[in-house]
Amino acid sequence: MRITESLDELRKIRASKTGTFGLVPTMGALHAGHASLVARARAECRHVGVSIFVNPSQFGPGEDYANYPRSADRDLAMLEKLGADVVWIPRPETIYPPGFQTWVTVEEAAMPLEGSCRPGHFRGVATVVAKLFNCFKPDKAYFGQKDAQQVVVLRRMALDLNFPVELVVCPTVREPDGLAMSSRNAYLNPEERKAAIVLFRALSAAKQKYEQGERNAEALRETMRSLLRAEHLADPEYVSAADPESLRELDTVGKGVLLSMAVRIGKARLIDNILI
Ligand code: PAJ
Repeated sequence: MRITESLDELRKIRASKTGTFGLVPTMGALHAGHASLVARARAECRHVGVSIFVNPSQFGPGEDYANYPRSADRDLAMLEKLGADVVWIPRPETIYPPGFQTWVTVEEAAMPLEGSCRPGHFRGVATVVAKLFNCFKPDKAYFGQKDAQQVVVLRRMALDLNFPVELVVCPTVREPDGLAMSSRNAYLNPEERKAAIVLFRALSAAKQKYEQGERNAEALRETMRSLLRAEHLADPEYVSAADPESLRELDTVGKGVLLSMAVRIGKARLIDNILI
């Protein structure tokens, strides 16, 4: 496994590889969710690249950029075991050279849900991922369903900017009790960790309602809200039953629905979703 900070070296390594190249973009603090993406890329591609970059521009003022968990040595050991071929750990000044002023802004898809709670977040995500696509020139790029809106925004970006890359979406990996794996789960104390299963419980309850025939989207949102209200440590930011492609809130569920939520528990802001 080659590990480099240098963009020149990354480009040389990339130029020496023929055959399908798969990219897994990450911010490090790797867990089994990230591992599932690398394993999928390993199974589908001749070469696997991973980026580790805690991207400052996707964090808002007052968010957790400075405290975001960092564990480079453990991450590299995990990637070596998973069979990654090249890991790029760029310096911030490589991604954002002095005087940087060129941004990628996806419009409608980035507005609701996470976009409305975290202004500028998807501008940071779309910009860094466009740059990673330019640097790695991947044939396939792997993302988690855990960040459902991120996938919608990046699909739009790749299509609109003509990136010749196939986005592959991998299922959300969960703890045995249902909590979606996240680097931010590290912020939870034991009591908060127990409370955090309310996200998956609420999503599952709404899914069950749907399976029993409920097609009123507001009734599905209310099912989720009522479970969240019963958990006093949970402070919801939004609860959504939206069209999986446009991300617009639905009145009536037709062919599919993305159930999603963002909930604060203690210092952690957790997101989760179920796609039906
Ligand atoms: P990060 O949060 O490190 O996540 C990297 C990738 O892992 C994302 O595609 C995310 O959806 C996926 N992932 C995280 N938790 C997962 C889980 N429990 N199951 C399955 N996949 C999971 O997402 C980012 O970084 C950044 O926004 C990035 C795309 C790297 C741009 O900076």
